[in-house]
Amino acid sequence: MIIEPRMRGFICTTSHPKGCEQNVKNQIEYIKSKGPIAGAKKVLVIGASTGFGLASRITSAFGSDAATIGVFFEKAPSEGKTASPGWYNSAAFENEAHKAGLYAKSINGDAFSNEIKRQTLDLIKADLGQIDLIIYSLASPVRMHPVTGVLHRSVLKPIGSTFTNKTVDFHSGKVSEISIEPCSGDDIENTVAVMGGEDWGMWIDALKAENLLAPGATTVAYSYIGPSLTEAVYRKGTIGRAKDHLEATAFAITNSLADIDGKAFVSVNKALVTQASSAIPVIPLYISLLYKIMKEEGIHEGCIEQIQRLYQERLYTGNEVPVDESGRIRIDDLEMRADVQEKVAKLWIEAVTENLSEMGDLEGYRKDFYNLFGFDVEGVDYKADANEVVNIESIA
Ligand code: NAI
Repeated sequence: MIIEPRMRGFICTTSHPKGCEQNVKNQIEYIKSKGPIAGAKKVLVIGASTGFGLASRITSAFGSDAATIGVFFEKAPSEGKTASPGWYNSAAFENEAHKAGLYAKSINGDAFSNEIKRQTLDLIKADLGQIDLIIYSLASPVRMHPVTGVLHRSVLKPIGSTFTNKTVDFHSGKVSEISIEPCSGDDIENTVAVMGGEDWGMWIDALKAENLLAPGATTVAYSYIGPSLTEAVYRKGTIGRAKDHLEATAFAITNSLADIDGKAFVSVNKALVTQASSAIPVIPLYISLLYKIMKEEGIHEGCIEQIQRLYQERLYTGNEVPVDESGRIRIDDLEMRADVQEKVAKLWIEAVTENLSEMGDLEGYRKDFYNLFGFDVEGVDYKADANEVVNIESIA
């Protein structure tokens, strides 16, 4: 069928299999162009189908010839109904990995559940024996707790007082003021339960208990800090509390892996357009100004460039992994450069609807957003008939 983008609020309800495939191929080409990375050979990626997790899977497979198992939660296609983009991405990834002679299998389901953990452990046991790198890259609005059965919902709210600032509707380009009421009740606890480190710890405990971690195994989860402009709604808001918890969990995991000389890291990544970040108020305006400045300076990166640098210049240099004073890996270094932030802060004050398309990179933002769903990708013929029913080879 002919597949077109169909928008509902901040999400696109359709996705294009050919566009997603092209995106994956472009990322693979990028990794190949950067040369081999002396990284892990058996890798589990939790949250492997989009954004930073997909980039991690691609970097491991095509940078280090790694066998990869990817876990994700995506909607399969049916006749006349497109899949979610992560499904098409994973189908394309597996095709390319298998063509290159690489082991790649995927598990589609709720990574927070005991069942999906069990399925993953059994697959590792049967096919890989032990793994040496676990990337934890989940972004989810909800988590059904596997022990209590409680359904936790995360919220993106400030803590303590109402936050008022500018935001942009990136579809219309309209800049307006938005007020976000502070969180209340159990909002913080719920957000920490969803996006904090408890589930990461559960995965590592489960893998270790069944002797599925190789000596020296490493695990990495992703975090964000960002500038003072966004801190009320991000780092000092409910999601920031979850990230504090995630970062503290890295130390607890490293302690628990002392006997196998294993290590857990949190990598602080750059702000990028993903399905997760486009839903946070204020962030799209920040990103569109940030993109403008970083592109002008020639230092703009997407997920794949970020993760390539994380592997090559942080994790696998042959030396100790460099971390900041809080023990975190930083690949948000270019975003947080003082000159970049000063310029963004200046533009922030001046940005209004009338000048944003020139002052900010609204076009770049929109393009990245459409690209997430496989639209507006160069080299794809959107007028041609596309088969929406695409299978992921390893999923029965
Ligand atoms: P994303 O939305 O592109 O990817 C989320 C992944 O999690 C997908 O593979 C999805 O299938 C999977 N997933 C969600 N719920 C699941 C569930 N219940 N079971 C199994 N899989 C599930 O998100 P993105 O942006 O790549 O985020 C990944 C991590 O990176 C998050 O921790 C996020 O906070 C962090 N990060 C994101 C930044 C950004 O600007 N986008 C910046 C810095 C860090």
